[in-house]
Amino acid sequence: EFHKHPRDAELPSAGMTGKFDQAQLQRGFQVYKEVCSACHSLKFVSFYQLHDLGYSEAEVKAIANQWATEVPSVNPDTGEPATRKALVSDRFPSPYANETAARAANNNALPPDLSLITEAREDGSNYVYSLLTGYTDQPAELLKKFPDAKTPTGLYYNPYFANLNIAMPPPLISDGQITYADGTKSTKEQNAKDIAAFLTWTAEPTLDRRKSAGWVVLLFLAIATTLAYLSYRNIWANAK
Ligand code: HEM
Repeated sequence: EFHKHPRDAELPSAGMTGKFDQAQLQRGFQVYKEVCSACHSLKFVSFYQLHDLGYSEAEVKAIANQWATEVPSVNPDTGEPATRKALVSDRFPSPYANETAARAANNNALPPDLSLITEAREDGSNYVYSLLTGYTDQPAELLKKFPDAKTPTGLYYNPYFANLNIAMPPPLISDGQITYADGTKSTKEQNAKDIAAFLTWTAEPTLDRRKSAGWVVLLFLAIATTLAYLSYRNIWANAK
C-alpha cells in the first residue's frame, strides 16, 4: 500500500499517435552523459546512433572520443587487458571495470544497464520519471505500522521503487544541475522527463516508424475491406 504507481510524465512519444521530440531526446542524452553515465552503461546503444538524435558526424565523433570512460581493449604488444578511447562504433560503456568494482562503489548494489529499463519495468517511461522525482521521507504511517521498516543507512526511501528502499542516491538533486545546450529551462522535473524520453528511445529507437507503419496498415486494411465488400456486392448483384 506504500508502493506507488508511476505518475504520467506526459511524454510526446506516449499514446497511439505519439512521436519522439528530437530536442527533448538531445536534452535527455545530456542528462545521461552528465549524470547517469557515472554509474550506468547503455550496452545495447552505440555512439553512432546519436545521429538519429540530430547530432552531426563530427559531433558524434567528438562525443565518443571525449567520453569520460574508456572502453575495454587489449594491448596489442603484450596481449594484456587495456583500455582505449571510445570510437563511434562502440557501445556506451560501464564506468566500472567489473561487477565487483561496481558493487564496491554502490553499497553492494549493482547499477543496472539502462538500455532497456523502460521496457523492463511496468509503465517504464513513466516509472523512470517518477523514480527520479520520487525520493521523499518515509511516511509516518509506514513507521507506525511497521516500526522495523526504517530505511537502512546507505539506502534511500522511494515509493516508486518496488521494495521502497533503493541503493541509488538521488541523482537529480536541484534545478539547474544541468545547463541545457538548447537553452530550455532546467528544472529537476524537466531533467527527469527528458531522461525518461531518452531512455524510451534507447529501448525502442524505431518507435516513430512502428507507429506510423501502424496507421498505414490500418488505412490499407480499410481500403482492402471496402474493395472486398464492393466486389462482393457486385458479384452477387444479379442473384435472387
Ligand atoms: C538503479 C536510473 C544515476 C546508481 C537505477 C534504476 C534506474 C536508474 C531506472 C533501476 C531501478 C529499478 O531496478 O527498478 C538512473 C538515472 C540516472 C541514474 C536515469 C541519472 C539521472 C545514477 C548514479 C548512480 C546510480 C549517478 C551512482 C552514484 C544506481 C544503483 C542502482 C540504480 C546503485 C541499483 C539500486 C538498487 O538496486 O537498489 N538507476 N540512475 N544511478 N542506480 Fe541509477
